[in-house]
Amino acid sequence: MLTVQNITRTFNAGKAGFRNVTFSIEEGEIIGILGTSGCGKSTLLRVLSGLDDQYEGQISFSERTVGMMFQEPRLMPWLTVHENICFGVQKGQKKDLAKDLLQLVGLDEFAGHYPKDLSGGMAQRTAIARSLITEPDVLLLDEPFSALDAFTKMQLQDLLLSIWQKRQTTMILVTHDIDEALYLCDRIFILRGQPGELYAEINIEQAKPRSRGDVALAEKKAEILNLLDLNHKSKEDLL
Ligand SMILES: Nc1ncnc2c1ncn2[C@@H]1O[C@H](COP(=O)(O)OP(=O)(O)OP(=O)(O)O)[C@@H](O)[C@H]1O
Ligand SMILES: [Mg+2]
Repeated sequence: MLTVQNITRTFNAGKAGFRNVTFSIEEGEIIGILGTSGCGKSTLLRVLSGLDDQYEGQISFSERTVGMMFQEPRLMPWLTVHENICFGVQKGQKKDLAKDLLQLVGLDEFAGHYPKDLSGGMAQRTAIARSLITEPDVLLLDEPFSALDAFTKMQLQDLLLSIWQKRQTTMILVTHDIDEALYLCDRIFILRGQPGELYAEINIEQAKPRSRGDVALAEKKAEILNLLDLNHKSKEDLL
């Protein structure tokens, strides 16, 4: 459904951003993007979302309704949960969908609350529902759970998975959390360098939902840590 060929987005005379990125994604896949800070992950999502058109190379989408979700919920403080979810869609339109989404993210009882009265997890749930109101073909997520505590994070990962099971939404998930990527993704792209380049691709064959303690996933984790140069192979490495 999405193919990108040799896309490059750099700033200030060739610095930073990312370069020569090529991949294609099938409908219904969950793709993870992992890489150290500054390797161009957010820049890549912005380009894929259409927010940034200053790139070189080719992007072809078979359909293109894109939903986007960020690290912070970015809710309008003067609007209720329900109004935030419907923000941007015409009044009256999608009324039933908004109701379904409130239920899907477990906030039907909080529809009339304002953002200041929500926990961090509830605010991110609202943001998930808002990103789905346009019924996007692709959901782009930029570290959506990184500001949350470990337990809330796991609950929201499961929420994302249940959304995928119900709707088969294609997702591209930027994360710093290797366990999160291993739990949710069918393929993980590793970006390295500045500007970032696609360095490796890891396939996770296990069917979803997966067990968080899976031994095979732990092996993949070691592989990813090596690819990111974050694994110490021997005690001497630490000295
Ligand atoms: N609008 C811009 N103008 C100039 N440089 C930029 C711009 N946007 C991003 N950059 C640079 O491009 C590089 C990649 O930034 P980006 O935000 O995509 O990284 P990232 O991989 O998302 O990092 P993080 O994991 O910290 O979120 C950085 O060096 C950043 O300073
Ligand atoms: Mg980023």
